[in-house]
Amino acid sequence: MSAARFDAVVIGAGAAGLFCAAQAGQRGVKLLLLDHAARLAEKIRISGGGRCNFTNVQAGPANYLSQNPHFCRSALSRYTAQDFIALVQKHGIAFHEKHKGQLFCDRSAGDIIDMLVRECDAGGVTRWQPCAVESVAHDGEAGDYVLQTARGEVRAARMVLACGGLSIPKIGATDLAWRLAEQFGLRTVAPRPGLVPLTFDARQWQPFAALAGVSLPGEISVEVAQGKRKQRVRFSEDLLFTHRGLSGPAILQISSYWLDGQPLQINLIPDADSPLPDAPQRAPLLEQLRAAKARGSRKLVANEVGNYLPSRLLDHWLAGHPGCQRPLAATADKALQQLCQSLQQWEITPSGSEGYAKAEVTLGGIDTRDVSSQTMETRQPGLYVIGEAVDVTGWLGGYNFQWAWASAHACAEALAG
Ligand code: FDA
Repeated sequence: MSAARFDAVVIGAGAAGLFCAAQAGQRGVKLLLLDHAARLAEKIRISGGGRCNFTNVQAGPANYLSQNPHFCRSALSRYTAQDFIALVQKHGIAFHEKHKGQLFCDRSAGDIIDMLVRECDAGGVTRWQPCAVESVAHDGEAGDYVLQTARGEVRAARMVLACGGLSIPKIGATDLAWRLAEQFGLRTVAPRPGLVPLTFDARQWQPFAALAGVSLPGEISVEVAQGKRKQRVRFSEDLLFTHRGLSGPAILQISSYWLDGQPLQINLIPDADSPLPDAPQRAPLLEQLRAAKARGSRKLVANEVGNYLPSRLLDHWLAGHPGCQRPLAATADKALQQLCQSLQQWEITPSGSEGYAKAEVTLGGIDTRDVSSQTMETRQPGLYVIGEAVDVTGWLGGYNFQWAWASAHACAEALAG
């Protein structure tokens, strides 16, 4: 049987693969898009709680982690959130901003998948799915990539890896990007789960397990090394107690920066950053308590602090501070100080994370030192890599899809050039 011939073959019909195929196809590239999963773009379908947080209007290089923080700059500036919004609007998809620049579909993530499929159709893209890739080789003489697939042999002068990271294996994630990188002599950055709930060892977490389900705004930080310097990365978002540890947006964000053995510092009452609705502008908690004590307040400490914490959490916390279970006027300064410190500088060291089964993204990927930031072509001529398979990982909030669109767009321009 003779091989099917294309100008380019894209492996992985997720966010980046679909968008790259559509953009290159519409520029005249004869293109095959193939994916081994039974269902199309399942990760887009489940994203954003089923509504797909498809971009973030604030997306910029500062919102991405990579061994080279500048690598994403070129692609992000050449295809912006506004460009993708224009496409979404062209397709008549209704959307809204949730908070912090995050844009979600009003109806469902399926709208974005349908849009990408229509865009592929407009580009005459051939799609094979499900179609497993059995092997890949480079025929140096012909200058072709030769793929043995479940539907026969495919030959193309260019090959694009858009096969994502390791997160959520049950919907089709594999380590193909790392395997092919090794085969073609490209450097990789070791993968690890990102945007993932953090866990604690059972004995350490036992006192907090009863708080499962409690959610509150918090400020969380971790120290990260930047070259020789150390700095604290902080996020102010909601956090959620679970049976095994901590989750919620604040924890997912910090999880991408957290390394094994590092303590997290958590402020459960971030004074200025997230005042409760209707709360007056506040002084630091300890100052407020001391001022109330100085006025001779007969209010219980629990009532004063209770303005700022869910009652289940407050009851639990005060149980560990017997010196504070009395009126403010009768509470020792030291006890107030210890209470505030435990609430506002809570230091706790996770033992691990929920892993790839729950991680929204995979950190690491093909090392950017071996990839052109202009074209996404690797050091191996004709081999491109886009989306999550590159060592570029966004924050929670639509940043990862924006990277998928932007890197795919840069690659598509190069394929057509
Ligand atoms: P993606 O994972 O989308 O696609 C890779 C494709 O390659 C898959 O279709 C897979 O089947 C295929 N593939 C893998 N191995 C293969 C092989 N061996 N052979 C053939 N095909 C293979 N981001 C965001 O910005 N906003 C959001 O709302 C969310 N929400 C969200 C929720 C959840 C639960 C998860 C898990 C993730 C998110 N994300 C997100 C992250 C976002 O989904 C992710 O960053 C992008 O989908 C990455 O796009 P890619 O195209 O690179 O990979």
